[in-house]
Amino acid sequence: MPRVRPRRLRQSSALRRAVRETRLHPADLTLPLFVREGVEEAMPIGSMPGVVQHSLDSVRRAVTEAAEAGVGGVMLFGVPAERDARGSGATDPRGILNLATQVVREEAGDAIVVQTDLCLDEFTDHGHCGILDSDGRVDNDATLERYQAMALEQARAGSQLLGLSGMMDGQVAAVREALDEAGLVDTAILAYSAKYASALYGPFRDAVESTLQGDRRAYQLDPGNGREGVREAVIDIEEGADIVMVKPASFYLDVLADVAATSDVPVWAYQVSGEYSMIEAAAMHGWIDRRRAVIESVTAITRAGADGVLTYWATELAGWLNDGIDA
Ligand code: PBG
Repeated sequence: MPRVRPRRLRQSSALRRAVRETRLHPADLTLPLFVREGVEEAMPIGSMPGVVQHSLDSVRRAVTEAAEAGVGGVMLFGVPAERDARGSGATDPRGILNLATQVVREEAGDAIVVQTDLCLDEFTDHGHCGILDSDGRVDNDATLERYQAMALEQARAGSQLLGLSGMMDGQVAAVREALDEAGLVDTAILAYSAKYASALYGPFRDAVESTLQGDRRAYQLDPGNGREGVREAVIDIEEGADIVMVKPASFYLDVLADVAATSDVPVWAYQVSGEYSMIEAAAMHGWIDRRRAVIESVTAITRAGADGVLTYWATELAGWLNDGIDA
């Protein structure tokens, strides 16, 4: 007869709940939102069932709903009507992302953390995260100047946390310096430090109607490298990042755990579009239980060390948690 019986603590849902190590909370979730220029109402995204491109009007409702469910923040992405080589729309105060930020901040006030994606790919006609040199390569240092200008516009529009997702060297230091020089010392930086060149961004590119030719492997991390992800986080913290992030989340839980073990700032993870769509697609076929898969996936990301999670399920998941459904 076994003397040691770990099953004892698993015998009822009350016991399981009492001994659970990892708990999800709505405040730890951030909802990514797409806002499209020139549309009157929300438009569906084919590869992300349940996610939409918002209009400036429908995004207000989405933010209010998220705030009411207790979601911690929203991360805004712009889908501009026109794009050019320099990504001019990104630094235009009337550009869609800056406008959406104003509208959302006006609606939400301080009830939810208003965050913005700081990257050029949605705004450039070639779809890269930076501007190109004469050989067609992404010019790191010239791109930093564009990010600095973008940061000022986003902060002035009301963004409280800038999501630096372009993977340029020195981007955190450059943006911090520009913000500080402009007196915007309270605007915080979320550095997408360990951002991998991943196939899981596929549905997102559909969501922002990306025109990318080629790929991002010359600036995003190689999926085979864990140590390099930790190194990027260390560099970003030294440069002044307020929060560091690992992205995608579920294929990179080892990197997330390693970053969490060394970081002295909060560590977040981005459960990206492909992670969302894989679960939605399998659930639509009836192959997996949708709600359980969603809760399990975010629990795993949290268990690995994420203090916060960006997830397209943020509002729905917060609703379940508020109803006491957490497993
Ligand atoms: C860059 C950015 C991307 C994502 C977030 N910020 C796209 C990319 O790097 O290709 C992807 C998010 C997702 O897939 O959900 N603007």
